[in-house]
This record gives sequence, structure tokens and C-alpha cells, in this order.
Amino acid sequence: MKVEVQRGSLNDAKTEATVIFTTTKSSKSEKNQLQVKGLSKKTAEKVQQAFDDNIFASTQGETLFFRDADSEGAKHLLFVGLGNLEKLTLESVRRGCASAFKALKNQKVQKVQISVDSIVDHFKKHVEELGQAISEGLYLANYSFTELKTKKKDKELRPQTISLVIGTAGQEKPFSSGVEAGEKLSECINFARDLGNYPGNLMTPTILANETQKAAKGTALKVSVWDKARIKKEKMGSFYGVSTGSDQEPRFILMEYKGAPSNKKPICFVGKGLTFDCGGISIKPSAQMEEMKFDMCGGANVIATMLAIAKLKLKVNAIGFVPSTENMPGPSATKPGDIHTARNGKTIEVNNTDAEGRLILADALVYASEQKPAFIVDAATLTGAIKIALGDTHTGFFSRSEGLTEKIQQAAKASGEWVWEMPLVDEHHKDMKGVYADLSNISYVGGAGSAKGAAFLAEFVDSEIPWAHFDIAATAWHVGNRVAYHPDKGASGVMVKTFVELAKQHKS
Ligand code: BES
Ligand code: ZN
Ligand code: ZN
Repeated sequence: MKVEVQRGSLNDAKTEATVIFTTTKSSKSEKNQLQVKGLSKKTAEKVQQAFDDNIFASTQGETLFFRDADSEGAKHLLFVGLGNLEKLTLESVRRGCASAFKALKNQKVQKVQISVDSIVDHFKKHVEELGQAISEGLYLANYSFTELKTKKKDKELRPQTISLVIGTAGQEKPFSSGVEAGEKLSECINFARDLGNYPGNLMTPTILANETQKAAKGTALKVSVWDKARIKKEKMGSFYGVSTGSDQEPRFILMEYKGAPSNKKPICFVGKGLTFDCGGISIKPSAQMEEMKFDMCGGANVIATMLAIAKLKLKVNAIGFVPSTENMPGPSATKPGDIHTARNGKTIEVNNTDAEGRLILADALVYASEQKPAFIVDAATLTGAIKIALGDTHTGFFSRSEGLTEKIQQAAKASGEWVWEMPLVDEHHKDMKGVYADLSNISYVGGAGSAKGAAFLAEFVDSEIPWAHFDIAATAWHVGNRVAYHPDKGASGVMVKTFVELAKQHKS
């Protein structure tokens, strides 16, 4: 699928379908007013009639399709509601474009033009961002995972060429560069989704590392991969201890990007790359255990973040770290009560082998701290408890740095992803003390399971370095019923957009 920008007006082209965005305006009288611009009289009347008849209320993501309408330069017409004009955001546009894509796919339309003039006015100072949001909504909605199906019938009958028609003079250039950036970013997010969707047997730590190396070819990224012996030699005892229960070798994936002078501190991204988590000796129940192939989504999303930073050529130094292993109950597996020593010398009692994400991240965070970065953020499917706390709408994040928290809120506002700041206080840290070792990997005090996980991680970050932990356990997969540009089932690629935004906004 290709999204291109076309200067001119709708009637210049004769295409299969034209998409028109509509908004509403609150009015003092009872009913909202429909807002549409630049349409022929015939079409304007048609949509107004549907509105008056309560067939189409123009709410966010609502669509209305007219087959064989023969107007506005196309055979068919699709109206897409973006909700109230005063509340219109880039995220409503992104989601609206995804809803449009899905409606067009349902109608098996392949050639499309979208009129953007009606919304360009609203985003006058942010035309580049508008181009990016539109292109993200379309490219992300176009994602499907059919690689392992023998019949890929789903692929053909869907939009193949989408022209964004812009008439506003002087806006075409920034709009086009936004569209291009959106394409690059979405490709990386779709790559992260692929990595997540492959099952555990086809996405082992070795394969994950190989795929990362392949994807980085042709970019300025330098990828290094450590094997089991190197991980042990580097004194990553906590990470190593998780890997011994599996036949599959662990890998530590490092991705370096230099977009700023080398005296500028890097920013660091760490992601949990657990390619299958059955719990180890503290084995999980069978129900939904298959979903634990997604336990590497934090790692996949960090890999995608680094790829996007490189492809967008951001002026920042950045490093990505992905500890990757399986968590299995083989004969050499860590047993509950075993004690391991992390790279910073701290000893850890492993009282539940299913709390393994924090164990592999511990050593990665120590190593990231050694790079003396400006900040570290990590993404991990760390705890089931985050779903109890927040459901699947928001990604919970934990940080004790006010400065970084503010940056995260700004980045998330710009990316459109929903994040929620969670509490992390001394009490949570106290609960992670060990009886026989410095730390225990689980708390015996009930509740706040996600904060306890975060408190454990904090023990491995240099206290001078601003750090934030994102628990994506509830938002990394199966969130399609929430956000139109996410697939119904499978990996979402959550937080890549926010992390890239953090990198974009970072002043080196
Ligand atoms: N990968 C899981 C977290 C998880 C569970 C993600 C369900 C998504 C859905 C993690 O390794 C884990 O098992 N965490 C334990 C921690 C507990 C033992 C303290 C959990 O959440 O139950
Ligand atoms: Zn686990
Ligand atoms: Zn896990």
C-alpha cells in the first residue's frame, strides 16, 4: 500500500472512492450541527440528509458509505466522522483514518483519494504533524499478520493507493514530509508487531537477534549481540539465571545510534525480550499460556524505537538494550529460593521464577546505567497486576524523576498514546528486601504488584540517572477493540510512538 500527496482538488481525479471527513459543532439548540466543507451541492445535501435522519451522527470513527454516488471525483463516497470540531486532535485524525481504511477494506476498494482540506485549517501550525498522523492511521490499519497462513487472500482486496488531496497553497511541503515520517515510523511499528506475533518456536532469542541485525542493515544503527558465554562473562548473573532452564541460548541485543556529537550523553531504551514465559519452575496455569509468546513485546518495541530513530535520522545519541531469553523449567532451571548475583553485585533471592522479567532487566539496567545516559526508559510486559490497576486503555509508568515524568507526559500527548503515572514510593522498595540475600524478586506484602516490580528494577539503576519503567503487560497485545489503528488480535507495538517522540524532543 502506498500513500501519496496530491496537490489540487477532488474533481481533478476520477478514482474508485473519495473519503471526506466530517465534524460537528455544538449548538445552543438541542442538536449538533454537521460541518462539511468544499463539497458539491448534491453531496453536501446527501450527507446532511443522513445526519438529519439520524443515520450518521459524525461521531469519532463513524463511517457512512455511498456506493455509486458518482461525485467528488469518484465512484463511491465514504464519510468519516471525527467528532466535535472543538475537540479535534491529531489522535482523532489518526483513529479516523484507520476507521476509514477499515471501511474501505470492507468495501474491497483499492484506489482512494482523501480530501484533507477540511481539517488542514484546524491544524494550521501543525501541518507536518497532521500529515504524519494521517499516514500513521492508514499504514498502521493496513497491518495484518498472514505470514504463517498458506492462503493470503486477505492481502489483495484492500486499498493499494491512497492519494491525500491537498488544495491549501504552501502547505504541501511540510504535509508531505509528515506523511513520509509517518510511513517510516509505522513500518517500524508493524515490524515490532510481526516480531511479537511470531510464536515462541519461530521467535527464539537467536532469531530475534538475527532479525534485528537484518532490519538494521542500511541504517546507521550498530547492532551487537552477546551470546550465553559473554552474558556470563559480563557478570549478568541475574539474566543468566533465567536462561538456564531452556535449551535455547539467550541473547543480549545492543543497538547504538549516533545522531549527535559524541560528547553528548545518549538516551537509553531497555526492553524485556522474553520470547516465551511459561513461568519456569513456578509454572503458570495452562489457560492463555500461549499469550506468553508476547512476553518479548517490550524488547520488540525497543528494537522498533531504535530502528525508527535511525530511519528518521534524529539528532540524538541513543542506545537500545534487549535482554532476550526463554523462561523454561528445564533440569538446570533456577529453583525457587536460589540466589543469583547481578552485575552491580547485588544478590537476589528468586522466590518465584515467574517474576523473571525483572531479573533479566536488572542486568540490562545496570549496563545501561554504565553508559552514563541522560535518561533510561524501559518497556516490559512485567506484571498481570497492571491490567487489574488500569485495564487495557492506558500503559502505566513509574518514575521518581519529575523532569522525566513531565517529558513523558509531553511525548505521550504528542504521540496520542495513553499513559498513566503510577505511584512508586519508599514503602514499595522496602517490600522487596530479601531474607537471605539483598533482594527478593517478589514481595510478601500483598497488592501493588506492578509498583513492587518497578521498585525491584530501581535497585539496578544508578540513582543519579532519570529513569522510567513502562509496564505494557495490558497494552502490548489484543487491544484492537480500543484503538482503530491496532489489529483486533495480536501485538500492538505500543509505546514506540511515545519513545520516538521522547527522542525527538530530547535536547542533546
Ligand atoms: N510475563 C509475566 C507478566 C504477564 C502476565 C504479562 C500476564 C501479561 C499477562 C511476568 O513474567 C509474570 O509472570 N509476572 C508475575 C509476577 C508475580 C510472580 C510477582 C505476575 O504478574 O503474575
Ligand atoms: Zn513470568
Ligand atoms: Zn514474563
